[in-house]
Amino acid sequence: MDPLLVRAARGERTERPPVWLMRQAGRHIPEYREIRADYSFLEAIKTPDVAADVTMLPWEYYEPDGLVMFSDILTVLEPLGFSYHIESGVGPVIDDPVSGPDDVDRSHGDVARELDYVGDLLVELNRRVGDETAIIGFAGGPFTLASYAVAGGPSRTNMPLRRLKAEHPEAFRTLLQSFADVVRDYLEFQIGNGADVVQLFDTYAGVLPPADYREFVLPLHREILADLKAPSIVFVRRMNGRLDLLAESGADVVALDWTVDLGDARETLGETPVQGNLDPSVLFAPPEEIEARTREVIDEAGPSGHVLNLGHGVNKDTPVEGVRAFVETAKSIER
Ligand code: CP3
Repeated sequence: MDPLLVRAARGERTERPPVWLMRQAGRHIPEYREIRADYSFLEAIKTPDVAADVTMLPWEYYEPDGLVMFSDILTVLEPLGFSYHIESGVGPVIDDPVSGPDDVDRSHGDVARELDYVGDLLVELNRRVGDETAIIGFAGGPFTLASYAVAGGPSRTNMPLRRLKAEHPEAFRTLLQSFADVVRDYLEFQIGNGADVVQLFDTYAGVLPPADYREFVLPLHREILADLKAPSIVFVRRMNGRLDLLAESGADVVALDWTVDLGDARETLGETPVQGNLDPSVLFAPPEEIEARTREVIDEAGPSGHVLNLGHGVNKDTPVEGVRAFVETAKSIER
């Protein structure tokens, strides 16, 4: 039988909701911080054995139904000719960001060769993990990746990329297309190497006005997600009120941030499976409160086509007991 998470992603009624957390393999786990004392972030994600050890840490604590490969959305920058590193206190830094509107038409190198460490990680994870647990691959979406490539690092408002769109709309379109092309190849490569489910993180694309989103982003999501050989999840923040634009992406599952009312989402989305959407800050509450709030999410979502998750990544200061209460609540459901 397929993993529980895959069955829910296909819209099936499941005996309980499968559960995993975005950013589950990161800084909230003490052993992650120990591994990071010995390896930089990039060394860790580029060394398959180390990346596999990190991916497995949440398994040792919580046994979630999905293990998300330990990697980053920025890996595809390298096949497009950018280099980057992670600076503590700042976040990702692109060493050679897009220099102007003439620097946007990029063809990508061979993903299987340049991102071989991701393929090797997925193979290794399949060796370590039983068939009931889904291995989750992922990629960044074109808007989010382009935001880093243009700003050269994190940008709270994404203004450098939005400014490029205003000043040079064709360059904006070309840059997003370059990213869409590499991301499509990359997801196929991940699935070919054993990812059971893939999530597209176009986290920042929700800053666009709806008409721009529909014109520039939606067609690329459709290209990226069409006919993938594994179920896909699409995640964009701040899409409350226009979830139809996520459903139209062709993803099997629409991920919801915590500002979305799940009951309303079900009405808008009909049969489309959903993922989410507990507010990550709830995991700081006492266990009984976490259990109650998690049960509310599960009840609102109903018995079919629901993957339990947070509405965004787990905060780095979250106590492991909080995460455990969340996962255990999902596992205690019987229907
Ligand atoms: O979910 C997981 O557990 C899988 C791993 C994962 C990471 N990043 C690990 C990571 C995933 C899925 C991502 C996605 C990602 N990376 C996104 C989109 C997802 C989202 O949250 O919406 C974005 C925008 C990035 C870019 C990026 N890389 C950021 C913002 C950061 C954090 C910088 C910081 O210092 O806070 C990174 C580095 C990164 N990626 C870390 C982890 C665990 C932290 C590295 C460390 O300092 O130990």
